[in-house]
Amino acid sequence: MRQLFSARRREIETCFGSVLTELLSSTHLNDSDSFIQHGDTTVLLHSVAVAFYSYKLCRRLGIRVPYRELVRGALLHDYFLYDWHKHDSEHGLHGFSHPATALANARRDTQVSATEANIIARHMFPLTPAPPANRAAWAVCLVDKICSVYETFNHNIYPELRDYIRRCRPMPADGRAAA
Ligand SMILES: [Fe+2]
Ligand SMILES: [Fe+2]
Repeated sequence: MRQLFSARRREIETCFGSVLTELLSSTHLNDSDSFIQHGDTTVLLHSVAVAFYSYKLCRRLGIRVPYRELVRGALLHDYFLYDWHKHDSEHGLHGFSHPATALANARRDTQVSATEANIIARHMFPLTPAPPANRAAWAVCLVDKICSVYETFNHNIYPELRDYIRRCRPMPADGRAAA
């Protein structure tokens, strides 16, 4: 398989891969693969792409951020766990309400730092009025918008990231690799 990370690969895989593996095994993040985000991209694939490219952006530009919190916050930024294309009264207007839902779900399922909470809560700025309060949250806010537009107009994208998610999924009890 083509390597995802060309520069400082081992260090980056250690951080990005360990965080993804940990969240896939300890939270309901994998359930977000059941819901479509944009086009044919699932919420899980979208979240992994936002985390990956936010990470790459900060690394490439030399932006000093807490990388582990950046990846965790980005992976959980759309942790709302429902099909937002189905309108129901329970979730309100998705664009405005889902950051708070994602943050509540994240706090229910894992420990969330102040930086991670800000990444999740503020990622829809300027649709939601409060701007990101740290560099990591700004990076995720920006990359989320770029990924969303890309996903809306393209199909069958991020093939390396799809493979990467498969590799990071916990092995099922019967020992067969997950699909
Ligand atoms: Fe979102
Ligand atoms: Fe998003």
